[in-house]
Parts: sequence; structure tokens; C-alpha cells
Amino acid sequence: MEDSFQAALQSVHESTLTKLAQAVTEEELNRLKIETLGRKGKLTLLLRRVRELPPEGRRQAGEQANTVKQELEAKIEELLIHLHDEGKRQALAQEQLDITLPGTPLPRGRVHPITQVMARVVDIFTRMGFQVEEGPQVELDYYNFEALNIPHDHPARDMHDTFYFSDEVLLRTHTSPVQIRVMENRHPPIQIIAPGAVYRRDSDISHTPMFHQVEGLMVDEGISFAHLKGVLTFFVHEIFGQGTPLRFRPSFFPFTEPSAEVDIGCVICKGEGCRVCKGSGWLEILGAGMVDPEVFRIVGYDPEEITGFAFGMGIERIAMLKYGINDIRLFFTNDLRFLRQF
Ligand code: FA5
Ligand code: MG
Repeated sequence: MEDSFQAALQSVHESTLTKLAQAVTEEELNRLKIETLGRKGKLTLLLRRVRELPPEGRRQAGEQANTVKQELEAKIEELLIHLHDEGKRQALAQEQLDITLPGTPLPRGRVHPITQVMARVVDIFTRMGFQVEEGPQVELDYYNFEALNIPHDHPARDMHDTFYFSDEVLLRTHTSPVQIRVMENRHPPIQIIAPGAVYRRDSDISHTPMFHQVEGLMVDEGISFAHLKGVLTFFVHEIFGQGTPLRFRPSFFPFTEPSAEVDIGCVICKGEGCRVCKGSGWLEILGAGMVDPEVFRIVGYDPEEITGFAFGMGIERIAMLKYGINDIRLFFTNDLRFLRQF
């Protein structure tokens, strides 16, 4: 009995070592592991037989069998780890990357044409000494209309097609409310511009519900219409070119008196008359005027001492003229074919 146990143990030991030496895949090794050390493995079954051995040799046989078991377990594990690492190494070798190959080009973003024109306009005025101020886009009726000398029943309100949140709260329809906010908080001299988005219920080839304006305000003792003309002439020549003709055409705004609209010679036909300028040879770019004494009274300035001018221009309009674009909606439909041209 004892001898046959010894023989069986030796046989399992040797045959397993032989198979181990031949195994080349993880799969083969795992199978060998189960065959030998698994629940019904050859060595496991042999170990179970130890307790049936005669008592005098049982202890020694058990020790021998356990030593074999530990040896085989260790060898199989070692080989498994080796094969696993080897497999990884081979996979890596096959997957080698050529880092000198050119990559996939990333599309390059561009600054939106409106943002570009806005930056250009702001730059021209800051060079003339204007400071940049901003006001809220959600505005009170008081600042957007009332304090600008546009009472509730004033017909000028109809021109603005306002988005209202409530009777008192609205989306500002122009940047002019920033004039009031600045004058309420400061004493002259004031020389500011206020760029930003404004909103009107308006949509066609020259109007969008959201667009941008830049407001200008210069207030001090002795400011005259001549200053307004000088500042705007310099601006037009900077942005449209030195030779660009401009004219001041009488107009009306409730918050300026006198008021004017400024036209430039049509950039398309150079004044000959065409479809864009509707045959007139001129294109309107902004509204302007001398701050109405009533507005000064509202913010607590003395109109006998203080005078000033204000202007407000549509940035989309300027961009359309500068780049010869005939439909304002192109700026907001996010068509990359259009946007990539700037
Ligand atoms: C005003 O908004 C006055 N606040 C301008 C002003 C300021 C006058 C200070 C005097 C003193 P108006 O409504 O005309 O005026 O608008 C000014 C410019 O905004 C227009 O010349 C036009 O270029 C642009 N604009 C008006 N509505 C739209 C619109 N729906 N889409 C795009 N641009 C618009
Ligand atoms: Mg107008």
C-alpha cells in the first residue's frame, strides 16, 4: 500500500513536470492545473488517500505529497505569469505606434466676425479716450425708456418692439440705458462707450431679434455738435477707410436734441446708387445727437452748465457694410462655410 502510494505520487509528479515543460499556452497550463490540482485532480485525489494509509507511514507520505503539491503549484503559477507577460510583450510589439506619422488635423477656430468688428470699434474709441462701460441686458423700463424721455404713451416705444418680462422688466432694446446708469453714478466729465447685445421683436434680412450696439456718451461743460462730428468722422475714416464720405442727416430721438443719423457713401456702388443703398448712394450707420436737457434734469445735472453728445450704432450693420454682406441672418445661423471667410 505504501509503496504503491509512493509510486503513484512519483508518477503524477513526473508526468506533470513533463507536461509543464511542453505547455506553451496559458490555456494548456490552466488545463494542466485543473487536471492535477483541481477538485478532482490527480494529486488532490492522491492526497485524499493519505488518511487510508497505515498509521506508521501516513505522516511521511502526507509530507511528501504536500511538498510535491507545493512545488507543482509554484511552478504552474510561475509559468502562467511568465506566459501572461510574454503574451503582453508580443501584443505590444505588434501594436507598435509610429509616432512620426502626421496626426489628424484639428479644425482651427476663428473669432466670430461680429466679435472682430466689435473689438475694432471698441479699439478706435478707446484710442480717443473713451472708457468702456457695461449695463444689464435685462433692464428696467425706467432706464430703457422713461429716463430717456420716452414716457409710457410715447409713439417712439412702438419703434422698439420690446420683449417684456413684466410691466417694469424687459430686454433692453438699445444700449442707451447705460447712459443713464453712468450719469446717475458720476459727475462730468464723462467719456464712455457701452458695447453689448440688445433685443427687439424684429426679423428680416436687415433685422435680427438679438443684435449688438455700441453706445457713446461724452458729457462736460462746453461739449458741442462740432465735437460729435469730429469724433464720428475720425471713427468712420478709421473703420471704413480715409476717403469714405459721411453726412449728418437731421433725425429724431426723444433723448437727443438736435438729433441726426449718420450715413456713409455706399460701399457697394461708391455713391452711384444701387440696390443696397436703394438708389440713394448713402447708407445709414448710426443715430446720434446732443443729449436732451430733459435727460440731464432726470439724472440731476444742470442743463445750463452741462452739455454733451451721444450716439448709438448697430454693429451688425457696420459688419455688413465692411464685408459686403447682404443678409444679417448669416451672422447667427452658424454656417461654417460663411464663418470661415473671416
Ligand atoms: C437707437 O437704438 C438709439 N438708441 C441710437 C441713439 C443712441 C441715438 C444715442 C441717439 C443717441 P435705432 O433704433 O435707430 O436707434 O438703432 C440704432 C441702430 O441699430 C440702427 O441704425 C441699426 O444699425 C441697428 N438696428 C436696429 N434694429 C436692428 C435689428 N433688429 N437688427 C439689427 N440691427 C438693428
Ligand atoms: Mg434708425
